[in-house]
Amino acid sequence: MKQLSDSFRMGPVAVRNRIAVPPMVCFNWAGDDGFVTENHINHYRSLAKGGPGVIFSEAVCITKRGRLQETQLGLWDDAHIEGWKRLADVCHESGVPLLAQIHHAGVNGIDENAECPSDFTPTHRDQTRGYEITLDRIVYLRNAFVKAALRAKAAGLDGVELHGCHGYLLSQFLNRQVNHRTDEYAEETLFVKEIMESIRIACGKDFCVGIRLAAYEPTLEDGLRHARELAPYADFMDISYGFTSDTSACPKDFPFSAAIYGAMEVKKALPDMPVFGVDGIVSGGMAQAALELTGIDGIDVGRGHLVNYNFARDALAGRDTGTCLHCKNCGWNPSGGPDHPCAGKKLFDRNQGHRP
Ligand SMILES: Cc1cc2nc3c(=O)[nH]c(=O)nc-3n(C[C@H](O)[C@H](O)[C@H](O)COP(=O)(O)O)c2cc1C
Repeated sequence: MKQLSDSFRMGPVAVRNRIAVPPMVCFNWAGDDGFVTENHINHYRSLAKGGPGVIFSEAVCITKRGRLQETQLGLWDDAHIEGWKRLADVCHESGVPLLAQIHHAGVNGIDENAECPSDFTPTHRDQTRGYEITLDRIVYLRNAFVKAALRAKAAGLDGVELHGCHGYLLSQFLNRQVNHRTDEYAEETLFVKEIMESIRIACGKDFCVGIRLAAYEPTLEDGLRHARELAPYADFMDISYGFTSDTSACPKDFPFSAAIYGAMEVKKALPDMPVFGVDGIVSGGMAQAALELTGIDGIDVGRGHLVNYNFARDALAGRDTGTCLHCKNCGWNPSGGPDHPCAGKKLFDRNQGHRP
């Protein structure tokens, strides 16, 4: 039976326990130049001191144009390396590996004429916003992913996680409801495969390469097919939701999120692949129960770490971790949810930066 305190490996990276910090953008800390700030350094140092097995960085953009928002961190320029070196150092001081989540927002970013696998008009607008990119541009973006990974490596990070879900560019290529191409990139996983293979060649086998992938892109059947096709290229898979997610394959009485159900199905299909699951885990007891039920390898705890930087240490010691009430004050989907106090704990304050 897997225990939260077990160590495991994801390719070249040793992970000392099964609690992971998943990617969480720190809104408004970076400027338009995408540089790491002192707020980021303090935040990642505190996360690492809390004792998780691994930290996946917030989504960091590979091109300035492909940003999700104006204050997103960047790895599109060599000048970014120095800040990322400091982030790697503060994580490594506590013995925690750091992987960068490399990202391009595609049609779900700030670009009004966004790059997209096919022309795309969002349902809430009457004008096309995403434009089918040319083959030359596909090569350019593949190289931009590789250069971002090389910068992460130069900064001393342990690897990269491709942001391949949540509706961003790679998710758009993977989703047949968005990807209507008629050339070779109609094969949904081709672009992602090429990026992963190119990063592997450029960065070497000691650099970990994985993907955050949707279990439902748009259906579980599609998600599992993508996972199987991408498995030869990945040291790990971190499973979440897609551009559009039909989660009906998740049984109504499944006690955890549909993403965790999807992660369980990916693990069943790929027993040798280190698989992480996410969404709604708010205590050490829940994390352990999810491990036991699903057989997956790692449990991502996102908002739980915003409530309590010491979530992993407390969970492993059987102490109260504090409980995220999903009020969304952390900045995730700020339009939703009642305005609860976070179990009496201080909220992560995205405007003031590092909380004590
Ligand atoms: C403030 C905030 C920022 C997030 N930013 C990212 C991100 O950069 N990349 C990503 O893949 N997911 C992002 N997410 C989603 C989380 O990684 C995670 O999947 C989600 O919060 C559900 O997990 P939880 O219930 O443990 O919080 C973000 C979530 C939050 C709360």
